[in-house]
Amino acid sequence: MIVGEAVPARVSRMLDEIASIGADPPGVSRLAYTPDERRAHDLVATWLREIDLEVSVDAVGNTIASRAGREPGLPVLAFGSHLDSVPHGGRFDGIVGVVGMVEALRLLHEAGVTTSHPLRAVAFAAEEGARFGEPCIGSKLIVGSLSESDLHRLRDPAGQTLASAMTSVGLVPEDAWNARWEEGDIAAFLELHVEQGGVLEATGRPIGLVDVVSGSTRLRITLTGRANHSGVTPMRGRADALMGAAEVTSQAEALALSATNRGLRLTIGRFDVWPNSTTTIPGRVTFTVDVRDTDSDRQRAVALEVAELAGSTGTRRGLGVEADIIADTSPIVLATWVRDRIRAVSDSMETPNRSMTSGASHDAQVMSSIAPAAIVFVPSRGGVSHVPEEWSSAGDIARGIDLLIRSIVDLDTFIAQVRGPATGASSDKTEPGRKRVSPTLEGTER
Ligand code: HGY
Ligand code: MN
Ligand code: MN
Repeated sequence: MIVGEAVPARVSRMLDEIASIGADPPGVSRLAYTPDERRAHDLVATWLREIDLEVSVDAVGNTIASRAGREPGLPVLAFGSHLDSVPHGGRFDGIVGVVGMVEALRLLHEAGVTTSHPLRAVAFAAEEGARFGEPCIGSKLIVGSLSESDLHRLRDPAGQTLASAMTSVGLVPEDAWNARWEEGDIAAFLELHVEQGGVLEATGRPIGLVDVVSGSTRLRITLTGRANHSGVTPMRGRADALMGAAEVTSQAEALALSATNRGLRLTIGRFDVWPNSTTTIPGRVTFTVDVRDTDSDRQRAVALEVAELAGSTGTRRGLGVEADIIADTSPIVLATWVRDRIRAVSDSMETPNRSMTSGASHDAQVMSSIAPAAIVFVPSRGGVSHVPEEWSSAGDIARGIDLLIRSIVDLDTFIAQVRGPATGASSDKTEPGRKRVSPTLEGTER
């Protein structure tokens, strides 16, 4: 099956159009479950309908396009990424994978190619944990690792619940169960994404194939002291919440930098001080802790140790302490056989590639709980992301899209070969042998 090559100018135009939604010069702020995120989904739905695809939006805001396959009753080949951003973020994180899926489908449409397997392209909602703390909300609701009660538990810094935010943009959180995909629906899931780090640029490789995706454990810690006049209150005897939080912050950094935690990343990204006034001793400080690691035990042990540090520091300083785990995602090893197939396609395209880990979390990490999954990275200039300076070249992105679509076509053929001859056309996906297609190859470590 011959498909054409991605058109860099067309890709750039789509990137620019999405970047104009939630533009926050010099970057973008298109947060989860905001009108801007929905406008971006509407735009992508329009592009997908222009190439004759059936497009739907599920109850939790994921935009899904379906393309029929030649053979009835086969599981789908799925691919996609996310449309939301972090505050003051970049124009490429997530968007490259969504624009890539649109361009890949357009290439199939232009070539008049129909795969054996049905295709399912998805623009996920709410992948960034920036607003509600929990990453990958749209994909976690698809695989069922978030429940409806979580939608009422999770809140943004202003105190709005996730459910309320979903309702505010016309979605139906009560129907979140309806967004579920069943294990067995999906033959494989692929995500094209910018690397967000500097390895590909430093090693001169245009393609990264992810083997391990870091996990993340996120805490919200609140220290409560006594607000008082900054000029009248003696230093001794203060219950200064900010001084306590500052002590915990430096202890946490020292912990992350210790030799035993080499490779672990710890970030205190949000720091809210109350009443946040020059002449008042801070009475309350709430801050977030994001602990990332490819070693799940160490990730959780360090998060717990930071919570304990907050407890002991707070007690010593006469501060109240609350520490909550707001999100916890395991590191994951992605399916080797899918990565091997993509590597073979990349080699056949004479496109240098390398295996690598991902320090960032991704929807594919979540989708790998119901399907063999793979992530293809394209280089990030200067290795920066989650900032306006985030940038990837149209040429690198187009090359990633060419690999994405050729890998989909390759997997379509490969999985059919491994599955063997059809046992009679049947629309019943549950027919034995047509359930979960996982070729008898090295599977995924769970
Ligand atoms: O925060 C992350 O790891 C990703 O960019 N969502
Ligand atoms: Mn992302
Ligand atoms: Mn991100």
